[in-house]
Amino acid sequence: MTRQQQLGPNLTFYDLHPPAADMLAEVRQSLGAPQPSLHPKFFYDETGSALFDRITRTPEYYPTRTEAALLSDYAEEIRARLAGPHTIAEPGAGSCEKIRLLLDAWQPQHYMPLEISRECLLDASRRLADDFPQLHITAVCADYCQAMTLPDTLVRPGRVVFFPGSTIGNFEPQDRTAFLQGLHRLAGPGGALLIGADLHKDSHRLNAAYNDEQGHTAAFNLNALQHLNRELDCGFNTDGMRHLAFYNPARERIEMHLECLCDQHIRLGETALTLQAGTRIHTENSYKFTVEGFSAELARAGFTPLGCWTDPDQLFSLHLAKT
Ligand code: AVI
Repeated sequence: MTRQQQLGPNLTFYDLHPPAADMLAEVRQSLGAPQPSLHPKFFYDETGSALFDRITRTPEYYPTRTEAALLSDYAEEIRARLAGPHTIAEPGAGSCEKIRLLLDAWQPQHYMPLEISRECLLDASRRLADDFPQLHITAVCADYCQAMTLPDTLVRPGRVVFFPGSTIGNFEPQDRTAFLQGLHRLAGPGGALLIGADLHKDSHRLNAAYNDEQGHTAAFNLNALQHLNRELDCGFNTDGMRHLAFYNPARERIEMHLECLCDQHIRLGETALTLQAGTRIHTENSYKFTVEGFSAELARAGFTPLGCWTDPDQLFSLHLAKT
């Protein structure tokens, strides 16, 4: 059932958060596999979203500030290539900071952030609603990987879907086209996609970005297990786990893992599982792209590329495409 609440004159909240039983079944399957893994969405509870914000401010993590500079430098130029845009949807909106870089230049009427972390979404959308009283906000708490089919009341054709941050790089190559097709449906006829894609670069820079000196990325990675402890009472001893992140050149991706430093005896509902010392839980892949390769992926998903913007150091790319 969809729970809908009016939280202010310009803020409506829809709660489509998946039930805890779904989470337990998914975690049981992925941790119980011969090569244990966890989906990156488990990073993002309230603590994880706050840790991610800290990562974005570290000197080593270049994607966020590079993309933010592209958005503010080219907001007008991008808008000139679009009709409107009146309505924007942002899957995985997090703290709703990046959309602020577009709102003044674009003056849309409606903004729909989708985010799995309820607290983070409520907090961010309340602040945005106060700061932009003319903007109508429909905040949707959902696992956006499953929410491409939204209730009819939330369907608006001709939308600009905003998917920044190179979150597309967290999808496996074989899943990316289907996901981009989902974004195509979300945008609807006459709509468009503005999407960030992190570019290939030397491995030192990449490794540093995922192993920041202040340890925020390590804390973010470990928080996935603390999140499971809080939600599902799994009983992970997180002091007995180690953060690992490295560039895998053959797969053109950063890999993040959590390594067990001792045997981990955990609970998954009614069942128990032991992960032996030395076991690695694969928590994230972050694929890197070329401009040409990513434009071709957009075309395969049915988009027509309209433009691409990169920084002078060719660290990051921003692509605009129409449906
Ligand atoms: C959200 N996503 C694009 C980030 C990335 O770079 O893949 C998540 C992240 N993981 C570690 N640091 C940042």
